[in-house]
Amino acid sequence: MTTTKKTSRRTAEPPHPPLTPPIAAPSILSADFSRLKEELSLVDPARDWVHCDVMDNHFVPNLTFGPILIKAVRKLTVALVDVHLMIEEPERLVAAFRDAGADSLTVHLEACADLAATLHAVRDSGARVGLAIKPGTSFEAVEPYLGGLDLLLVMTVEPGFGGQEFMADMLEKVAAAKTWRERNGGRYLIEVDGGIAPDTARQARAAGAEVFVAGHAVYRQPGPRLALDDLRRAIAE
Ligand code: DX5
Ligand code: ZN
Repeated sequence: MTTTKKTSRRTAEPPHPPLTPPIAAPSILSADFSRLKEELSLVDPARDWVHCDVMDNHFVPNLTFGPILIKAVRKLTVALVDVHLMIEEPERLVAAFRDAGADSLTVHLEACADLAATLHAVRDSGARVGLAIKPGTSFEAVEPYLGGLDLLLVMTVEPGFGGQEFMADMLEKVAAAKTWRERNGGRYLIEVDGGIAPDTARQARAAGAEVFVAGHAVYRQPGPRLALDDLRRAIAE
């Protein structure tokens, strides 16, 4: 009898995806999808994550992609695939995104009728559990959930589009998240998303941010590879 060695997408992952900050997370929302393989090749799986923005033209006005694209990304990189779900009632699609290869699933507090159940569904799927808040949502609103999170995403623009201006006043929430964790011992990383470039990343870093999503500041620059290096340097300072 011949035995065939089973291969799984998991075997291709690096033994230790980076979970120690600072971490840069290029957002493919700003990438050229006709060259996705090249666009993803600048991501270093030992240092960076890949950020994927899922939008439903309902929770946000824009419409992007679903699990099919995540499956393609999964094939093209061994980096941690960080999926940001800007969709109403994401619970219904947790399994589909996880099966497609998402390593981390972030849902919006404002998009879930039963947030506790949604976070449990993400945990049960085996993905890392992320919770995001829009600029108008207070830090206090996430406090009851912080103990069960792997990631807290503080939006630094209104979700929906790349290339918007960074909202510096959101850094109060970043600082509050850092303080809460020091006092209560949570294990979540603090991610910022929206208007992140080397200068704003430095401000966010000073406030306590640890994962830095950047679309335009990487993929819409003349040299995305060098731009990502600039971002990595800025957050390492
Ligand atoms: C916005 C998305 C972001 C977007 C950021 O709703 O969540 O991830 O890609 O784009 P930049 O970095 O261009 O502001
Ligand atoms: Zn995002």
